Amino acid sequence: MPLPERFLDELLARTDIVDLVSESVRLTKKGSSYWGCCPFHSEKTPSFHVVPDRQMYKCFGCGKGGGAINYVMELENLPFKDAVAVLAQRVGMQVPEFGSSPGARERREKILEMNKQAARVFHRWLNGPEGAQGLQYLQSRGLSKRTLTNFGLGFAPNRWDGLITELSSQGYDKRDLLDAGLAVSSKDGRIYDRFRNRVMFPIIDVRGGVIGFGGRVMDDSTPKYLNSPDTPVYNKSRNVFALNIAKTSKAGRVILTEGYMDTISLHQAGFDSAVASLGTALTEEHGQLLSRYFKEAVIAYDGDGAGVKAAQRAIPILEKAGLKVKVLRVQGAKDPDELIKSYGREAFARLLDQSENQVDYRLAQIQKKYDLSDDGQRIAFLQEAAQLVAGLRSAVEREIYGGHAAQTAGVTPDTMKLEVDRALKGRLRKEKKQQERRDLAPASQLQPRARGLRYENIRSARAEEGLLRLLMLDPGLLGRMGELTGGEFSSPLLGRAFDRLAARAREGLSTQLAALAGEFTGEEMDHLAQVAAQPESVANSGQAIRDYISLIRGEGLLRGGGEQGDDLLLAAQKKYQRKKAYMEEKK
Ligand code: GTP
Ligand code: MN
Repeated sequence: MPLPERFLDELLARTDIVDLVSESVRLTKKGSSYWGCCPFHSEKTPSFHVVPDRQMYKCFGCGKGGGAINYVMELENLPFKDAVAVLAQRVGMQVPEFGSSPGARERREKILEMNKQAARVFHRWLNGPEGAQGLQYLQSRGLSKRTLTNFGLGFAPNRWDGLITELSSQGYDKRDLLDAGLAVSSKDGRIYDRFRNRVMFPIIDVRGGVIGFGGRVMDDSTPKYLNSPDTPVYNKSRNVFALNIAKTSKAGRVILTEGYMDTISLHQAGFDSAVASLGTALTEEHGQLLSRYFKEAVIAYDGDGAGVKAAQRAIPILEKAGLKVKVLRVQGAKDPDELIKSYGREAFARLLDQSENQVDYRLAQIQKKYDLSDDGQRIAFLQEAAQLVAGLRSAVEREIYGGHAAQTAGVTPDTMKLEVDRALKGRLRKEKKQQERRDLAPASQLQPRARGLRYENIRSARAEEGLLRLLMLDPGLLGRMGELTGGEFSSPLLGRAFDRLAARAREGLSTQLAALAGEFTGEEMDHLAQVAAQPESVANSGQAIRDYISLIRGEGLLRGGGEQGDDLLLAAQKKYQRKKAYMEEKK
């Protein structure tokens, strides 16, 4: 059920985008707008632009954009309604209850409460007669009483309706239990406990909510771990285990492991910044989440082939999220948990200190492929290493890691440098060609980044964008747009946005970009923000509207030179790119 539009309008009117963004980004005023370093990707030179009079933000680096609601959705990883609730609380407004069916937010709260009760019950069982076997298992894995309490570990008995009975007596019904993923239904429509005869690991998010569970068998049966399915409160691609504890660590670097037991073992040994991604490969969302609390990540995956592969996949994801990445090589044991058990916490601490910078780690992986005593293979190693080193951004890095590769292969640093320079030249040549291609087709710069949104007819789309901008700047201009509807637009996205804004304008509601947050996806909002950020003058809008409409209707462009002041934004963007290239060269 949609939230009442007037409530959203009021909320957005009371929320100033500059104040909001300032809570998480240091902004500097330049002219009538503000710049800062983008919170959604890593950067050193500001490309994040906040425009108060349009109440929007746009990043020229990563392309993210939108209004206040999108900002909170993006930053806190929240669905639309929850972001609205956060903003409402911030300005002291009450989110209206709408209709009789409980909203998604209420649903989430109920499931969180139910999960908390379930965690209590599991924990009680672990310490009761039924849990003896579970307790013994966890203690045999070396966990102390204190660790069991700190992580709220529990036990699910070997019954079909243990938890169901407990939670039903607390007033939860069948649908609640299924929604929370605590029960599963059988073919005949009855339900039974999802977790049976397992030790239970509650998964707690950064706000302290119990969002899901993992359960481990106590023998070699399969599946070894059973996790909560995705529910309204749990998404395995977005959450990591133990971040609720790790986020307050003073260690400064997060230790990334593959499993529950590794993470818990590390915490018990005093490494309180350990987390685990759960039964899934690391995602960009995980990376973003971690980068909110840490600047550096140490990957401590299992030492086997699968672990090495997973680490190699995780490196670029973490780097993209802006984290400095190191890789710890687990040696002489299967995983961090066993390592600590066999060699003690000191051994892990030493490995942590020696953990390799990801470039060295990748060089070592390349080295493994070649037999360096063979001249032919040595050359192949040097060439592959040179490709890696040439891909590094700064000259200093290229020199340092080029040196490491040279040493490995037993050649002089100068020889290596020649090889790197050659690889670098090849790369620059390729990049220059790509740039030229882009410059030759400037219209392509208008294309949405997301492939699915591509314009079919760029000339028309340009005019459609112009109309949208005018409508955003002044809803009163709708009156001059005659009978035009979004159905006549060449771009479905722009047409849909036009219809929404026109409907709002007719009802006297705000037509600012932020008002669209509830009806467009993140990608769509990114592009609409790109559209909204471009310059458009309300002066002489009458003529502009006529020109735009005739262009959309295929009547040809009447206005000479139509691309008035073309385009301040494109110019700013180009300037920014030049500056960025320059800064990078200087590094
Ligand atoms: P222990 O054997 O208890 O030490 O487990 P571990 O944490 O060392 O696990 P392992 O290296 O076998 O697996 C790493 C992680 O992958 C686990 O912590 C789970 O999150 C996940 N995992 C392992 N086995 C399964 C499984 O059968 N199903 C699911 N869903 N996840 C699994
Ligand atoms: Mn293990």
